[in-house]
Amino acid sequence: MKKLLLVLMLMPTVLMASDYQPAAGANGAQIYREACAACHGDDGMGKFGLFFDLSTSVMLADEMKKVIQQGGMMMPSFANINGKELDGLVAYIQSLGDVVAVKEK
Ligand code: HEC
Repeated sequence: MKKLLLVLMLMPTVLMASDYQPAAGANGAQIYREACAACHGDDGMGKFGLFFDLSTSVMLADEMKKVIQQGGMMMPSFANINGKELDGLVAYIQSLGDVVAVKEK
């Protein structure tokens, strides 16, 4: 019983961590395509509905960085995206909202 409990406790963290490693110097668009578009869609509109829509996110850059590195309730964590790559990725996500706004006009 104790063992089962331990397994149940460890499972989410194992499933939820991505070991994705961006190439050094990769730009935001490239990292997004490789690691994020599968869930969040090419233009950040989300593939599976509202939760995945980044284009309307009102999060600040620092909050986004936290979500990316620590994961969310359903989103895996990307601890290997750091520094310059993380800055570029967040800037790219923030630019997605503008792209969508222009498209809608
Ligand atoms: C397995 C699917 C999946 C992948 C891959 C994924 N996400 Fe997410 N993401 C989610 C889900 C689901 C949420 C909703 C919040 C939650 O999980 O708690 C979310 C939420 C977010 C949010 C918060 C938006 C808001 O306003 O609340 C950001 C920012 C984000 N993701 C960025 C990224 C980035 C950047 C990547 C690539 C490095 C990525 N995600 C990869 C599923 C994913």
